[in-house]
Amino acid sequence: MTKLKLAILGSGRGSNFSAIYQNIQKGTLEAQIVLVLSDKPSKMLAQAKDYGLVTIYLNPQNFSDRNSYDQELIKHIKSSGADLVILAGYMKILTPDFIKAFPNRILNIHPSLLPDFKGLHPQRQALQAGVVESGCTVHYVNEELDGGPIILQKKVPVLPGDTEESLAQRILQEEHKIYTQALKIVSKNLKKVE
Ligand code: GRF
Repeated sequence: MTKLKLAILGSGRGSNFSAIYQNIQKGTLEAQIVLVLSDKPSKMLAQAKDYGLVTIYLNPQNFSDRNSYDQELIKHIKSSGADLVILAGYMKILTPDFIKAFPNRILNIHPSLLPDFKGLHPQRQALQAGVVESGCTVHYVNEELDGGPIILQKKVPVLPGDTEESLAQRILQEEHKIYTQALKIVSKNLKKVE
């Protein structure tokens, strides 16, 4: 198989995207980022431009509904030739049509040990629940929010005195490692079925 081609979707800071990009540059991950797409004029998009990658900003306000927005997304991703769609802080819920367009080809990272603390503010949820460990999960995306099959997880301790920010930072350090590790696992499996 030629290099794994990735389309990255995000809405914000883009630190997971950057970590993946750096790992490709270092040769830790054999892949190519063919498209970086955002629903916001995000920091991630600016960074991707600096890296010289193909970027697209799709403003949801220019579309009449979620479905027509996602149809446009599908079009761009298909024409990029991406093998995998990588969600990295993408804050829009995907439509069922989008998910059906890329069966078992969409990955997401979530800052909790799924199935615990799905949805928004998982670090806050973890602190409120009083757990002594939390972590992050890379999983396939299906129609259940944060509910697709798990590829990889990493635990981190919740320490006394942790705030949402300190816990989020500790988890983020691990996110930056496991997304690349998960991509290697998925890439191997894709090669097996080729
Ligand atoms: C990460 O915590 C990720 O787990 C969650 O959104 C955040 C995105 O951060 N889905 P970044 O944009 O990758 O820095």
